[in-house]
Amino acid sequence: MTSIRSLTVSLGERSYPIHAGPGLLDRGDLVVPQLAGSRALIVTTETVSGLGYAHRLQNAIAGDAACDCLVLPDGEAHKTLATCMKVYDHLLQQRHDRHTTLIAVGGGVVGDMTGFVAATYQRGVRFIQAPTTLLAQVDSSVGGKTGVNHPLGKNMIGAFHQPALVLADTDTLQSLPQRELAAGLAEVIKYGLVRDRDFFRWLEHAMDALIRGDTAALINAILVSCRIKADVVAADETEQGVRAILNLGHTFGHAIEAESGYGNWLHGEAVGAGMVMAAWLSRALDWLAEDELSRIVALVRRAGLPTAPPPGMTPEQFLERMAVDKKARGGRIRLVLQQGIGAATVTADFPPRLLRQTLEHFTAHGARTD
Ligand code: NAD
Ligand code: GLY
Repeated sequence: MTSIRSLTVSLGERSYPIHAGPGLLDRGDLVVPQLAGSRALIVTTETVSGLGYAHRLQNAIAGDAACDCLVLPDGEAHKTLATCMKVYDHLLQQRHDRHTTLIAVGGGVVGDMTGFVAATYQRGVRFIQAPTTLLAQVDSSVGGKTGVNHPLGKNMIGAFHQPALVLADTDTLQSLPQRELAAGLAEVIKYGLVRDRDFFRWLEHAMDALIRGDTAALINAILVSCRIKADVVAADETEQGVRAILNLGHTFGHAIEAESGYGNWLHGEAVGAGMVMAAWLSRALDWLAEDELSRIVALVRRAGLPTAPPPGMTPEQFLERMAVDKKARGGRIRLVLQQGIGAATVTADFPPRLLRQTLEHFTAHGARTD
């Protein structure tokens, strides 16, 4: 029998547990002690609600808290202030006070939005993450980054607001479409690349099991990913320094997401292509060996992820989008680049011509990715 595994994000009095394993949506005993008061609101999406996940959690806490449920439309295109307004409207209409607790049940989109509403409703209420996609279980539910998109940039409006609990029920991954599973694997590969060479090697061995949805392999991937993320977040909660390495592939990826229209490329797909682009530039700087670049491209491809941006994107489109990245300083683009597999650095210390060369390589007609 697969057991539940747990770890802690250590942030002093704002420390919180992450539990991962099967059957967790029925574990009211883990949720109820984390509620701020006797009321809660579950925020979920149409797809996730249709699968019965929100209802299970609602039932699990029903004896101890009055819990209503709000269902939002699905998809990145709805990760907006306008959708958040629906949550504020509901909270006020149902007279939720500042002792309520918001519970996000779903993927990273609803998790980021619910967290943002929790950060801002009556100047901040408690919230819990019950992530149901692999991406949300390994990344977005942990670390307290919340927010929404602006037409001019991804995640440009947001706040840091840590959850009180992360409850990752791995049974939910069985209903996840293959494309969404692959998108989550992009962030899993990211952790190996930025922090843990051995984990990267393990992923090379375990990739077939992961893409078939093998539970034991997935739980290991989730636990190692969350441990790496928890360590980085504990060291730099508000991204003054090292936390930015978790954005590997994201500067290129956010440009792809925004340029192709939110939701057309999944976030994880854009990160997959973005990590390959960052690796290529790292190779051009001679910070990464040729065989390491090949291994990165191969693993991203085996995960079922794109290894190049969508056809038709131009270097100029990339540069314009990348200039508004949150890591940019004084108009200078900063990137997360590889210094070997398992080590990453945030830097503006690369010749602009090499960035242009990278963009031209990947946007040229019939771009090669290896
Ligand atoms: P998502 O939230 O859009 O979920 C993907 C799709 O899967 C949705 O249609 C959803 O309804 C559906 N779904 C969810 N769980 C399911 C299940 N168990 N079975 C079947 N379908 C299910 O996308 P995502 O990939 O989870 O999250 C992407 C978002 O996360 C992006 O907006 C990204 O910016 C954000 N993100 C945030 C952080 C952070 O630190 N806050 C980190 C990484 C990514
Ligand atoms: N997804 C990057 C971070 O949480 O910092």
